[in-house]
Amino acid sequence: MKKNMITGVQPTGRLTLANYIGALKNFVAMQEEYNSYVFVADLHGLTTYQEPKEFNERVLELAALFLACGIDPKKTTFFIQSEVDEHSVLGYLIAFQSRVGELARMTQYKSKKESNFNGGVDLGLFIYPTLMAADILLYDAHIVPVGADQKQHIEITRDLAERFNKKYSDIFVLPDHSIPKIGARIMNLQNPEEKMSKSAPENDKGTLFLLDDLDSIRKKIMSAKTDSDNIIKYDVDNKPGISNLMTIMSVLSGMTFKEIEDKYKDANYGTFKKEVADVVVLKISEIQDKYNEVRQSGELKNILKEGAEKARKVAKAKLEKIKEVHGISY
Ligand code: AMP
Ligand code: TRP
Repeated sequence: MKKNMITGVQPTGRLTLANYIGALKNFVAMQEEYNSYVFVADLHGLTTYQEPKEFNERVLELAALFLACGIDPKKTTFFIQSEVDEHSVLGYLIAFQSRVGELARMTQYKSKKESNFNGGVDLGLFIYPTLMAADILLYDAHIVPVGADQKQHIEITRDLAERFNKKYSDIFVLPDHSIPKIGARIMNLQNPEEKMSKSAPENDKGTLFLLDDLDSIRKKIMSAKTDSDNIIKYDVDNKPGISNLMTIMSVLSGMTFKEIEDKYKDANYGTFKKEVADVVVLKISEIQDKYNEVRQSGELKNILKEGAEKARKVAKAKLEKIKEVHGISY
């Protein structure tokens, strides 16, 4: 039997090429092999204030981009988190297994609680991991592809599931995380020591947003910061800018680092950047064409509705079992 995969992405910020390479591209590949669930984590997005109208549009934009990047609703159960109420109910029940101390130790919580401070820290931010655990445990997920920064949340999910299994009954699958080998950390083009982030300002020259116009994508790549020795060689410590461009090239073209080094051994950085730009523009233009198609077809909401129905069936059956083992099934 196929194993289950689940993952979610928060609708905060605009998707970048880094999200495509480090996340979406892998989800698309995994849907062939796994029984896949992919969702827009809108409830997690609400752990920081979002202007409601903009937020609604951002969720739909993100959903359309997922489809544009190759998520196939025939292969993947694709939905919006808040459309399946079982996530919230299980999130509440999972919170009972969680300890204040372990939640307070989460790196993401620690790093966000200062900026989130508004006369106090919001509870939503604090219990972020319990909802995330619910997302995963509802679908008996074996594998959860996430960025390195989310590894700790998968670990706490395992701890909570294990604690529950021991206390009540062995009903939760313990999930593993998976982080891509190449491309897990695409860096900002202007500042290759920092990762490219979807919460960068919209005019950031070092971030390639998937919905940027193609000219500015090209310009951003041509003006990417590099060293000045004009040698195309993979060396993250000494040549972070060039290594980052090589990673992008490698993932999108299928060439290994060695093949890239050989092919461009006599080329200068200008020539190399131009070819990186060609490869990236080709990929992003495909994504944008598909995105426009999805938005214009008017099918998006139907697809999401069907996805939510499929997800709800699985989630409902699991929640029923979870209620039974708690003694709250009547
Ligand atoms: P985030 O943008 O942090 O919400 O992450 C959404 C997904 O994109 C996660 O699965 C991350 O692994 C992936 N991701 C985010 N930033 C990068 C990056 N700079 N390089 C590679 N993958 C990334
Ligand atoms: N916390 C994840 C992130 O910021 C998003 C997310 C929410 C998620 N629920 C999840 C990822 C469940 C995997 C599984 O990237």
